[in-house]
Amino acid sequence: MKIYSGSSNQSLAEKIAEELKTNLSPLEIVIFPDGERRVRVIDRVIGQDAVVVQSTSPNPDTHYMELFFIVDALKRSGAKSVTAVVPFLGYQRQDHIFRDGEAVSLEVIIETLESVGMDKLITFDLHSIKIPELFKIPIVHLSALPIFAEKIKEIARGSVRSFPPASAPLASPSEPDAMRAVGSPSTSATPRLSNDTILVSPDMGGIRRIKILSEMLSDMPYVSIVKDRDLETGDIESNKIDTDSSQWKKEAKTAIIVDDMISTGRTIASAVDLLIKNGIEENLVFATHPVFSNDYKNILQNSKTSKIFVTDTIDVPKDKKFEKLEVLSIAPEIIKNL
Ligand code: R5P
Repeated sequence: MKIYSGSSNQSLAEKIAEELKTNLSPLEIVIFPDGERRVRVIDRVIGQDAVVVQSTSPNPDTHYMELFFIVDALKRSGAKSVTAVVPFLGYQRQDHIFRDGEAVSLEVIIETLESVGMDKLITFDLHSIKIPELFKIPIVHLSALPIFAEKIKEIARGSVRSFPPASAPLASPSEPDAMRAVGSPSTSATPRLSNDTILVSPDMGGIRRIKILSEMLSDMPYVSIVKDRDLETGDIESNKIDTDSSQWKKEAKTAIIVDDMISTGRTIASAVDLLIKNGIEENLVFATHPVFSNDYKNILQNSKTSKIFVTDTIDVPKDKKFEKLEVLSIAPEIIKNL
């Protein structure tokens, strides 16, 4: 098997290759002065299974074009099969028509990927469970939820109440165990989750996700926020906690907010404010895709949350990191499915 990397998430591709005890196979990617790209496969791939790792954020258009060309080049060079690992599938939020006259962007992307010869797709936490139905080729839809569940159990082992309040100095990202050190560590090997903790989806669309996570965490209670967003401006118009849900606990003091992606950070910031107004004293956030756009860094760093966990489905280079952020890797999950 040969592993290739596009230019969007080389660090993930390197982690995958490293765990497989191999090197990335070389690709020549030339960018012309007007922005066009030429892709060339350098080594011999005839009769081999090829894997190409390419995320599609930021710059989805550029990174999709590059992916189309890489798959095409591999097929023309005789690869037996091409598996595309696209941990964040860009344009997934436009998977159907919301208002008359709109394009179904995701369908255009899928048709192009299939027509250049992609044989299989591996991706993570799609916005809607209906998206795999749009593909004619096999698609492996993975989730970061097991990784999140493990992290939550790890935090719980040191006591769920052990993460610092939002106003306290935060552990540096280079000290991942510092959060645990704040509380008194439990001697029990079985994680014990505090019963004042509740899982929260910041919108009703995430209820399925949060239910699955609840099952992974011994039926931790969960609740959703009812969020309305203006489709034209993207502004969040109103939100409230679905307190009618039988899962809602008035006595909840700690919230774990779980979302599929963070873009501007406004959804998370407004969810945190709402939870605090409803008696939540501490909260932390888990989101699979760090789409991170506009003023996300200020919004998230200044929000009243203690810690934000994301994964490396999208590369987060040093200049995009901030103090409250910790990045968990999906590389081991991908390897299990190659
Ligand atoms: C929306 O339905 C998604 O699940 C995310 O909540 C949303 O895309 C996050 O966007 P932002 O960070 O810009 O509020």
